[in-house]
Amino acid sequence: MHKYGVSVKGIGVSLPSTVVKNEDLTALVETSDEWISSRTGFRERRVVSGNEKVTDLAIEAAQNALAYAGMTGSDVDLIINASSTPDYIYPAGCGVVQQGIGAPQAFGFDVAMGCSGLIYALGIAIQFIENGTAKTALVIGADTHSRYTDWYDRNTCVLFGDGAGAFVISRNESPSETDILAMDFMLDGTKGQEIRLPINRDNCPLVEPRNFEEQSSVYMNGREVFKFAVGEVPKIIEATLQKAGLTPQEVDYYVLHQANVRIMNSMSERMNVSPEQLIVGLEKYGNTSAASIPLALYDALQAEQIQPGATLVLCGFGAGLAVATAVVKWNCIDRRKSSSAETVTDKSTEKV
Ligand code: UT7
Repeated sequence: MHKYGVSVKGIGVSLPSTVVKNEDLTALVETSDEWISSRTGFRERRVVSGNEKVTDLAIEAAQNALAYAGMTGSDVDLIINASSTPDYIYPAGCGVVQQGIGAPQAFGFDVAMGCSGLIYALGIAIQFIENGTAKTALVIGADTHSRYTDWYDRNTCVLFGDGAGAFVISRNESPSETDILAMDFMLDGTKGQEIRLPINRDNCPLVEPRNFEEQSSVYMNGREVFKFAVGEVPKIIEATLQKAGLTPQEVDYYVLHQANVRIMNSMSERMNVSPEQLIVGLEKYGNTSAASIPLALYDALQAEQIQPGATLVLCGFGAGLAVATAVVKWNCIDRRKSSSAETVTDKSTEKV
């Protein structure tokens, strides 16, 4: 039995300011706005420039999530940074975030699980909170694939964008008072090579040099990943919902990894859920990997499409190949809003 319950208390996002539109990519590869938008749903994406770092985005997303929660760095005792495109292999980005938000008391680590990284990180953070090791955790998804993409490979360069998103989660004294209704995870290493980012460092100069078979940039077998996503992800989501005692139709909104609008539409057809239940927020961002779920969710909250009290499915999938799913009651109040608005929202978050 868990010692404590868990709630999401804040959400924040961050995007670099430079926009690359589909039309801009025609200067690099043979492609078109029509091909990209009809095959993926993307119209533009953001990319880092100059010396901007992935941790700059992570810090800004974390600060915004803390402001949303009405907290500061001094409230945080765990930082899990999900990123597969780090500035450094070590030190881990969590330490940079620790300094950036002013949380010297926090411990942390990074998780490299590609597009499902943030939901994996959420699952880990929840364990630390439920067993009493941490009280408040920052869970961040931050990726800058623009630095790891071959911009002259049209199969991949049109897909990715940079960004970061973060959740603040914290302890409720009663274990039954929890807004994380169920989680589930899967990993199929046999398909691991279908999305890969090799590291090309050579051997010790005293031995035979390595034979580099491919360059150090993202490779993706789009069709295979598409098949995996549409075939496996709905099964995992349905299993997670079963654990939560819900049917797919009882979920208010699905916030899936924003890999491709056609994947999301095929998944919703398979699960027999309506297009209105699907949150689509990829047109301006592309596939932002570990950041895509909070980016789409944040926009839907800002647009008041999603209201406090909603039941959400959050599902990340991709490199691994891996899937991570959470069923969450969104009882999260934006503390940046005026106190009168807070009173109204407070009522709607009473547990039923
Ligand atoms: O974030 C991790 C999870 N990622 C995913 O889930 C992504 C999954 N996969 C996909 O989203 C899709 O497979 C893609 C968007 C990557 C590709 O769409 P597709 O409908 O599967 O296209 P395809 O790979 O089957 O390619 C169709 C054609 C090919 O030409 P041929 O062989 O039929 O002559 C490609 O060479 O389109 C061509 N093509 C392009 N044409 C114009 C590939 N990329 C481009 C491009 N512009 N950028």
